[in-house]
Amino acid sequence: MRKKIIAANWKMHKTVHETEKFLRELMSSDMPHEAWIAPPFTSLHAAAQIVSNAKVKIHLGGQNMHAAAQGAFTGEISGSMLKEAGASFCIIGHSERRNLFHENDAEINAKLKSAFHVGLTPIFCVGESAAARDSGDFMDPIELQLSSGLLGIESPHFKNLVLAYEPIWAIGTGKAATPQLAQETHNKIRGYIAAKWGGDIAKSLPILYGGSVNVANAKQLLSEPDIDGLLIGGAALEVQSYLSILRQQQ
Ligand code: 13P
Repeated sequence: MRKKIIAANWKMHKTVHETEKFLRELMSSDMPHEAWIAPPFTSLHAAAQIVSNAKVKIHLGGQNMHAAAQGAFTGEISGSMLKEAGASFCIIGHSERRNLFHENDAEINAKLKSAFHVGLTPIFCVGESAAARDSGDFMDPIELQLSSGLLGIESPHFKNLVLAYEPIWAIGTGKAATPQLAQETHNKIRGYIAAKWGGDIAKSLPILYGGSVNVANAKQLLSEPDIDGLLIGGAALEVQSYLSILRQQQ
């Protein structure tokens, strides 16, 4: 049985105060399922204090990290800093990092290795552009992201890896992939992982879907056999909508 993960990527939303308010409200609800939340860095430490009393586990994560352990990298943050602030996971290779901040596959590969090294679970994001989807060759960029991102990563680390398929054309656009299209792509991704790293790794690897997930489409996406969870942006900023998506996890 693969882990089911309903993760929230808050992006650049919520101050410390707003984070605390969200978490208190979430914890006072009948949380039906574990939560995974990636708030801004500034909120992590305060969030960790609050969720330490949660009856149902709330995992906290970073949205990005630098590959180096420390150094002269103004504005950056290391995996061990995230970990000590209370993170257990980190989103790596999000398309907003790739496109707006010019992260390349080699940097993403180094970040993944660094996350494993410090014991953070990476949520490693891959996904194709609208042009690649329209051309029909949408697996080419995804396979390149996977092969270069995971280059040299030893198989025991795959136990601690989460993948997220986030088609760029679906992020923040309101145009989610249909459950059929997402399932088909997840299945192809799993097939590629199986061919390259072996069937056992592929079978146990959680693959989340992200891109315009909302209360109305979550259930159908989650019912697909190769969709092991969701990575939610906008719809995870309000407690009630995040909660109703958590409730749809069977
Ligand atoms: P939206 O759910 O707002 O489309 O964002 C998806 C995303 O980028 C999650 O990482």
